[in-house]
Amino acid sequence: MGFAVYKIIQSLPEIPAEPVDPMMARYGTNRMPNWHPTPFKSIENASRSPCPLLNTLANHGYLPRDGRSINRKMLGNALDHLNIAPSVRDVLVGGVKPLLRPPPGIDQASDVDADDLVFDLADLQRHGLIEHDVSLTRHDYRASLGEDRHWQVDARLVQQLKGFADREGFLSYGALARVRNLRQAQCKDELAQIKAHNE
Ligand code: HEM
Repeated sequence: MGFAVYKIIQSLPEIPAEPVDPMMARYGTNRMPNWHPTPFKSIENASRSPCPLLNTLANHGYLPRDGRSINRKMLGNALDHLNIAPSVRDVLVGGVKPLLRPPPGIDQASDVDADDLVFDLADLQRHGLIEHDVSLTRHDYRASLGEDRHWQVDARLVQQLKGFADREGFLSYGALARVRNLRQAQCKDELAQIKAHNE
């Protein structure tokens, strides 16, 4: 037992003699200041989703900038820029299967190879497929209150989310859990108010 503990201690990295930058210790080089993407370009009438990550990938050209006619290979390649495990990437790519259709100009799905089927980012706005209620930056789906509120970002909710970040601007797991609880309470209150109003 004593020998095993000795071996474990031996295998631990040495504690550096110099003081460690706490930001470096916590996040390593995986930090926003070290992200140097291809430039942002805005495209008129671009197709966009409720997912901040996918919109960012399109804004920076890792997905088609107009957000249209994306096949699974294109999505997988774009996600590979995120340093996620291939198994996670494949699960995420699999999520778009119900949205896939033939590219523009082709009517029948049977006329194209499955790998050539495509979706637009706006297809992800469909409520109940991946898009769901109680989001951090968007309101719940209520068709009677407007068709866009469940996928368009509300700047006040973004401000609220930012209020949970630490001094360096990072959101910890704990902070995300707290803001998620708050959103759950807010959405419940909103629903109660709508019901009371309709009675
Ligand atoms: C590692 C990759 C990804 C990250 C880090 C990410 C990040 C996020 C975040 C933070 C939200 C919540 C936004 C909010 O609550 O307002 C979100 C929502 C969403 N994401 Fe992603 N995303 C990823 C991949 C994907 C992929 C591959 C798809 C589908 C192809 C997708 C589709 C969606 C959709 C539809 C929503 C809306 C869910 C809701 O109603 O709140 N995401 N994503």
